[in-house]
Amino acid sequence: MDINIKRHDEMRQGEAWQPIVQIQSGTKKFYIESYGCQMNFSDSEIVASILQANGFSATTQFETADLVLLNTCSIREKAEQTIRKRLTEFRKVKEGRKGMLIGILGCMAERLKAQLLEEEKLVDIVAGPDAYRSLPILIAEAGSGQKSVNVLLSREETYADISPVRLNGNGVTAYISIMRGCNNMCSFCVVPFTRGRERSRPVQSILEEAQQLFDSGFREVTLLGQNVDSYYYTDTGTNETVTFAKLLELVAAISPLLRVRFSTSHPKDITRDVLLAMTKYKNICRYIHLPVQSGNNRILQLMNRTYTREWYKAKVDEIKKIIPGCGISSDIIAGFCSETEEDHKETMDIMAYSKYDLSYMYFYSERPGTLAAKRYTDDVPEDIKKRRLAEIVALQNKLSLQSNQEDIGKIFEVLIEGDSKKKKDEWMGRSTHNKVLVFPKENFGLQKGDYAFVKVWSCTKATLMGRIENIK
Ligand code: SAH
Ligand code: SF4
Ligand code: F3S
Repeated sequence: MDINIKRHDEMRQGEAWQPIVQIQSGTKKFYIESYGCQMNFSDSEIVASILQANGFSATTQFETADLVLLNTCSIREKAEQTIRKRLTEFRKVKEGRKGMLIGILGCMAERLKAQLLEEEKLVDIVAGPDAYRSLPILIAEAGSGQKSVNVLLSREETYADISPVRLNGNGVTAYISIMRGCNNMCSFCVVPFTRGRERSRPVQSILEEAQQLFDSGFREVTLLGQNVDSYYYTDTGTNETVTFAKLLELVAAISPLLRVRFSTSHPKDITRDVLLAMTKYKNICRYIHLPVQSGNNRILQLMNRTYTREWYKAKVDEIKKIIPGCGISSDIIAGFCSETEEDHKETMDIMAYSKYDLSYMYFYSERPGTLAAKRYTDDVPEDIKKRRLAEIVALQNKLSLQSNQEDIGKIFEVLIEGDSKKKKDEWMGRSTHNKVLVFPKENFGLQKGDYAFVKVWSCTKATLMGRIENIK
């Protein structure tokens, strides 16, 4: 099949955005599904805003949508396989619905580009993470029968002026994207290729978004970026520079009732100033996601993580000293190229040392084009990778349970996010350390978005169970 591909590389990024195609308001319905990291979920909210400004309205049923979008992830091979499987489910619906369009957004779109249209014949639109402003044109073209692609990466695009439409939210917690891209070249990672160069969003637009969220009832914002600690923005007017530590303080100053979280911190970049800011404001949550990836120095070097195990352990010590009781979580990769049993044991050892409350754990998946794919052999057999991963998961389960058991008898201030999943007469919320608490509503007359002081009576490895001691 001959595919006629239109490119929109000429589109200037970072200019004030104008809706390009005006369709009568709400006449067409779009459905969007997001995969991968929180950045992708946050991007889907930007996409929703762009589409709504162009006459589309959101639907939660893809069967009735005129436009079905998949915001995709390329981080591991399995992520891509899941998305391909999902696409085959859409195929049936598309066959029975004339005029329905399917678009692939996000990292997989960026990684595979026009090749995706060859491989997945039913896809009409391919748009990379920096190309969402051009969606209205791409849709219009696809509507007239042309396959459309824009995968141009930008050095400036931060979608700063676009006010995200909150999708499937609880009305209490929200993400705010503060930067895009990544300049670190971790050898296993595809993100620098799919999301491009790092850039920080103007501070004023972040503060305005946080203020708007607070004014409309939200009580927690998570500042998002692949490497938030390298946030750096210089105001062209005042020439004033804002670091991540300063940004945290500025957001926290909006209201003591607005909790501030952030993710992700690269261990090499989190500064003492950030830790001090966390002690200065009670509403900056005492929780740090500090991915270690491996506990062995040789592997860390092959991964290009730029720290050693000793350096990482000293960072954990510093965090625990400056912020006693700070929650710490991690990302871990099992079975990276050339990893030995001894190296693996050192990963388990650093997990126990750091006493992670939670970890996201994976076995290594080689990604085409990355430094590791070019330079090293993916030589740990799959069964060994999986066995090591199972050991890592078992250890983390033990650490999580221990960490939760230590909280029994303590009282935490909890922000109520909504009903507990299991029982309608119980609330679910989180402590500042990011632990999930479940507790009976009783007759306190609380609502989601309120704070309560909850005493912990029991726990599982994932949840603390308690009762309200007091309200704010
Ligand atoms: N920016 C974050 C991580 C983003 S990706 C950071 O620097 O920590 C989320 C996690 O996916 C990574 O921390 C890593 O643990 C995992 N990951 C990334 N590439 C991977 C790969 N090729 N195979 C397995 N896991 C991977
Ligand atoms: Fe990937 Fe490393 Fe950047 Fe994280 S810091 S997104 S792991 S390259
Ligand atoms: Fe996946 Fe892209 Fe996020 S590869 S993890 S969606 S930045």
